[in-house]
Amino acid sequence: MTSSNAASTALKPAWAGDDLLSRLVNLLIRTKPLYALMKRQARKVLIKTAEKNGVPWRQTYAEWDASDIRDQLAAIANPTVTYPDYYQVPFHAYTEGNLCWQAAFEAESATYAMALRVWIQEELTWPEAQARLRGGFHQALTDHGPEQVRDILDIGCSVGISTLTLHQYYQQRLDHPVRTVGLDLSPHMLAIAQRRDTQQDISWRHAQAEATGFADASFDLVTLQFVAHELPRQASRAIFREALRILRPGGILALTDNDPKSAVIQNLPPVLFTLMKSTEPWSDDYYTFDIEAALQEIGFEPAVTVATDPRHRAIVARKSALD
Ligand SMILES: C[S@@+](CC[C@H](N)C(=O)[O-])C[C@H]1O[C@@H](n2cnc3c(N)ncnc32)[C@H](O)[C@@H]1O
Repeated sequence: MTSSNAASTALKPAWAGDDLLSRLVNLLIRTKPLYALMKRQARKVLIKTAEKNGVPWRQTYAEWDASDIRDQLAAIANPTVTYPDYYQVPFHAYTEGNLCWQAAFEAESATYAMALRVWIQEELTWPEAQARLRGGFHQALTDHGPEQVRDILDIGCSVGISTLTLHQYYQQRLDHPVRTVGLDLSPHMLAIAQRRDTQQDISWRHAQAEATGFADASFDLVTLQFVAHELPRQASRAIFREALRILRPGGILALTDNDPKSAVIQNLPPVLFTLMKSTEPWSDDYYTFDIEAALQEIGFEPAVTVATDPRHRAIVARKSALD
C-alpha cells in the first residue's frame, strides 16, 4: 500500500474529460443504436464472466425473483424521499437505474464480479477477491481512521455487502458494541440489504445522502464505498458537506473507489472504458474531480490517499477535533 498526504495532481486517464479520445468515446455512446448494442454486449459479457468464475448470477436472480421481497418495499421506503435528476438516468444498463428490482436482484453478483476483475491474473475465487477488496479498505481505516468507533454510517450501502463487512470488522476488533447504519436512495436495494442482514445487526435507512436527517455530530465514521464514481461532482460535494455536519469532532469520512491514477484504470482497454462510460453516466465528472481538494475546501483536514489495490484508492479525511 502506498499513501500520500498531499492534494492530488488530478491525473486522469485519457479516456475521461475533454481529451480527443474521451470525446470520441462520448460521441460513440451518444449514437443510440450503438449504445443499445454496447449495453446488451456489456451485460452478456458481465454475466458470462461472472458465472465462469463461480458467481451464481442467474440463480441468485431467480431466487430473489421467486421470493416475497417485493412485499417489503413499502415498509422500507420513506415516502418523503425525493430523487435528484442525476439519480433517475439509465445506469449500469438498467433503464430505471438503481430504482428497480432487476438492479437490486443483480447487485450482489455484480459486486462479486467487480472484485474478481481487480486480480484478473491471479485466478482468485470470488470470496477471496471480495475479502481482499474489503481488506484493503479496512486496513486503510485501521492505519488512518478514527481512534474511537461507536457509530458508523455507510452511505450508498446498496444491498449491504459493504455495510455488513465493515460492521463485522469493527465488531470483532472492539470490546464494545458498534451501531451501524446503512443508507441508500434505492428502496429496492435496501429491501434486499435488510433481508440479507439475518442477524438484524444494522439499521437500514432510505434517504438522500445529501440530506440524511441525522443529528449534528452523531457519527465517528462515515464511509462511501464505490459510490463517488456514480455521482456528479456537485452531488459528491453536497454529500461531503453533509458528512462533515453529522461527524463528531475528530470523526472520519472515508471513501474508496476507482483510482484515476492507477495503471489499471489509466490503461483500461478501449472496449472496457467505452463500456464503463456507456453504463456509468458520471464517469467524466468522477475521473476529473480532485476529491482531496474538494474535501479540504469543504472543511476537512488534508486527506490521506492510499492505493488499496491495483485499481482502487481510499481517501480518508478527518473533521477537526476542535470543531
Ligand atoms: C455501487 S453501489 C455501492 C456499493 C456498496 N457500497 C458496496 O461497496 O458494495 C452505489 C450505491 O449508491 C447509491 N446512491 C447513489 N447516489 C446516492 C445518493 N445521493 N444518496 C444515497 N445513495 C445513493 C445507489 O443507490 C447505489 O446503491
